Amino acid sequence: MRRAPVVVLLLLLGVRVAPGPPLSAGCPERCVCDDQLVVQCSGQRLRVFPADLPLPTRQLIISNNRLDELPALQLNFLSDLAYLDCSNNSLSDVSESTFGNLRHLVYLDLSYNNFVRIEDHTFVPLLSLVMLRLTDNPRLSDIHATAFAEDAALQVLDVSRNNLSALNVSALLALPALRSLGLSGNPWRCGCDTEDLCLWLQTDTFRFQDEGLTVCESPPEMRGRRLAELGLNLRAQCHPSLGHQDYLFFVAIGFVIFAAGTVLAWLAGVVMVLLERHVKRKNGELDSEEKEEVKE
Ligand SMILES: *[C@@H]1O[C@H](CO)[C@@H](O)[C@H](O)[C@H]1NC(C)=O
Ligand SMILES: *[C@@H]1O[C@H](CO)[C@@H](O)[C@H](O)[C@H]1NC(C)=O
Ligand SMILES: *[C@@H]1O[C@H](CO)[C@@H](O)[C@H](O)[C@H]1NC(C)=O
Repeated sequence: MRRAPVVVLLLLLGVRVAPGPPLSAGCPERCVCDDQLVVQCSGQRLRVFPADLPLPTRQLIISNNRLDELPALQLNFLSDLAYLDCSNNSLSDVSESTFGNLRHLVYLDLSYNNFVRIEDHTFVPLLSLVMLRLTDNPRLSDIHATAFAEDAALQVLDVSRNNLSALNVSALLALPALRSLGLSGNPWRCGCDTEDLCLWLQTDTFRFQDEGLTVCESPPEMRGRRLAELGLNLRAQCHPSLGHQDYLFFVAIGFVIFAAGTVLAWLAGVVMVLLERHVKRKNGELDSEEKEEVKE
């Protein structure tokens, strides 16, 4: 009889003392949630994005699964998300709407997936993004020039070991904070359409990792050459020097003016001769009329 209150008290204490992870109530199946707002779902053979993620989640690690889609609706509920690791899944499609509401995201890893192309403005909503890893997508051959436009905080960008043969340098020029860039292991095609990229790399090598491994794959005569040493070569090759062009331009203009002048002079001469003949004939007719009048 006297024990009952003690048991009740202990139970109460137990309930209060037991480590009650504040997120456990909403932790998705096969994930582990901790009280630091970290949700860890790595290597769980997940095929779909976990439902019921705690809304205040700060870190979501969902790597080494089989996800083929990042559902925009569910992801964008996590507006406090700062760290998202989706590496090693089967993702093939992300767009501007996928990340529309993730304004606090600092770290994003999309490496080891199935991307073929990255559409325009895809990462634009990620205003706080500092590090983007997008490596080891063996089919990824196109990153749109505006994919990272306005990502003013982006410092580290890694697009190594994809299938890129060209990259519009505007995509990189739009990144004022960029200090580390990975481009190696791609089959770069070194011609006039990569001239601007090569030139930029040649002048900005301080923020360029794996420079020695960033080499051309084609055309054959360029194979194995480093992009960062080709900028000036390509410039000379793709734009024969301006002085020469200007010279040709002036010669051509001069010739056109000369030819036009000659033609005009000739035409004027012809007109003069015709006029003269006309006037003479008129005078001749007048003369003969006068003669006839005189005869009469
Ligand atoms: C990718 O995840 C699978 C398990 O789903 C794992 O066996 C494999 O080692 C991982 N690969 C990499 C590169 O992490
Ligand atoms: C890589 O891109 C080239 C075209 O640039 C394409 O022909 C090839 O099939 C791509 N490779 C893969 C694995 O998708
Ligand atoms: C590179 O991107 C800029 C800006 O979007 C665009 O104006 C330009 O035409 C692109 N260049 C090529 C070669 O696609």
